[in-house]
Amino acid sequence: MSAPKKLYIKTYGCQMNVYDSERMAETLGGQGYVETKTPDDADMILLNTCHIREKAAEKVYSELGRFKGLKAEKPDLKIGVAGCVAQAEGEEIMRRQPLVDLVVGPQSYHRLPEMEAKAGAGEKVLDTDFPEEDKFEKLKRRAKAKRGPTAFLTVQEGCDKFCAFCVVPYTRGAEVSRPADRILREAEDLVERGVREITLLGQNVNAYHGAGPNGDMTLAQLIWELDKVDGLERIRFTTSHPNDMMDDLIEAHGTCAKLMPYLHLPVQAGSDKILKRMNRSHTAESYIRLIERIRAARPDILISGDFIVGFPEETEEDFQATLDLVEEVKYGTAYSFKYSTRPGTPAAERAQVDPKEADDRLQRLQALLTRQQREVQDSMVGRELGVLFEKKGRFPGQMVGKSDYLHAVHVADCDAEIGDLRRVRIVSSGANSLAGELIT
Ligand code: 5AD
Ligand code: SF4
Repeated sequence: MSAPKKLYIKTYGCQMNVYDSERMAETLGGQGYVETKTPDDADMILLNTCHIREKAAEKVYSELGRFKGLKAEKPDLKIGVAGCVAQAEGEEIMRRQPLVDLVVGPQSYHRLPEMEAKAGAGEKVLDTDFPEEDKFEKLKRRAKAKRGPTAFLTVQEGCDKFCAFCVVPYTRGAEVSRPADRILREAEDLVERGVREITLLGQNVNAYHGAGPNGDMTLAQLIWELDKVDGLERIRFTTSHPNDMMDDLIEAHGTCAKLMPYLHLPVQAGSDKILKRMNRSHTAESYIRLIERIRAARPDILISGDFIVGFPEETEEDFQATLDLVEEVKYGTAYSFKYSTRPGTPAAERAQVDPKEADDRLQRLQALLTRQQREVQDSMVGRELGVLFEKKGRFPGQMVGKSDYLHAVHVADCDAEIGDLRRVRIVSSGANSLAGELIT
C-alpha cells in the first residue's frame, strides 16, 4: 500500500470556515489524504480564506508566495485556494500566482475530489459556481472517528440582507437553509462520536427556514428537535440578525434547558443615521427593546455583539450614540472593527472617515467593551455553573472547560474527564478566564 498523501489546511476567518475545513479534510480523506500540521511535508496545501475585512486578498498572495520554495523542491505539490477570497478573486488568483493549481469557492467543496484528480493530472482547476445541490450531503464524513466534545454544524449559509459594508452576500451567495432531517442525522452522528455541545452555524442562522416534515421549520423548532437527541447536552447558535429574532426563539431561551444562555446579536452601530446607511433595517431603539425582551425570557443571558466604527460619514456624534448603546446593553463579549472598504459593496463608494479618527474611536469603544466584558466575567465569581471539560490544563491535574456562558474555566486537582459536564463553583476571575472547583 502506498503511503497516505498529506494535506495541510490553513483556515482563516469565521467558524464556518473551521467547519468547512473539517469537511474538506474529511472528503479528501476519501482520496487517501491524511492531515498534517505543517506545509513542509504536504502533498496538498489548501488555504481556506476569509474576505470579510482588511487586505484579505493581499495576505493570501503573500502567503502563497512563501510556498515557492516548497513547490520548487516538490513539483507534485498541489496548492489550492478555497473560501471567500477564492470566490471573490476567481481566476485572478491563478493569473497573479501561477503556482496555484486549484481555486474552489465555498459552494463547490463537494467537487474537490474531482478537482484534486484533475490537478493531479496537471490541469489547473477553477470552480466558483453556486450549484443547486446540497454540498454538505455530498461531502463525505469520516466513518465514526472519535471527536472532541464540541462541534460546529452548518445549518444555513449565505445572506440576503446586503448590509452596505459586507461581502458575504456576494461570496457566500443567497440565503439557503439545509433540511432539518439532514441536520438531525449529522447531529446524531456527532453525538455518537463523542460530541456533547453543538454550535449551529449560519451567516444569518436565525433566518433558518429549512424543510421539515410539516413544511419549513424555524430555528427554534430545529432546536427543539435537537433537544430530543440523547447525549447532546448543549446547543448554541451563531450568528443572528436582530430582525430575524422570532418570538419562538426568544421563548426557547427561557424554556429549552439545552439552549445555552449566550446570544451573539450584532448591532454594528448605535446611530440611526449610520444604521440606515448600513442598510441594517433596524434602529438602536428597536435593538434595545429586543434585548429587553430576550432578557425578560432569560434574565442571565450573556449578550455578545459586533461593531464597526468609522463607517463612511460617521461623525463624532454618531459614534457617541454607539457608546451610549453599549452602555445601555452591557455586553459580555464583543468584537469591534474599524470599517474597511470591500470592493463591490455599496459603502466602498462613499466618503471615508479619516483613518486616524477611526483608530481613535476604535480604541475608545474597545476600552469600554473590555471593561464591560471584565465586569460580566467577574460577576460569575461565587456562582455555580455547568462546565463542559474540553482539554487538560497547563498544570498537572488541571482541566479546562467552558461555562454555560462560554467563559473558559480552569479547575485544579480535577477528576473530570474530557467530555464531562460538571457543576463548578467559580472562585476567581483572571485576565481571560475563570477559576473554579468541582462541586461534586
Ligand atoms: N469592515 C469592517 N468590519 C466588517 N464586518 C463585516 N464587514 C466589514 C467591513 N467591511 C464585521 C461586522 C460583522 C463581522 C463578522 O465582521 O461587524 O458582523
Ligand atoms: Fe453581512 Fe451579516 Fe449583514 Fe448578512 S447580515 S450582509 S452576513 S453583516
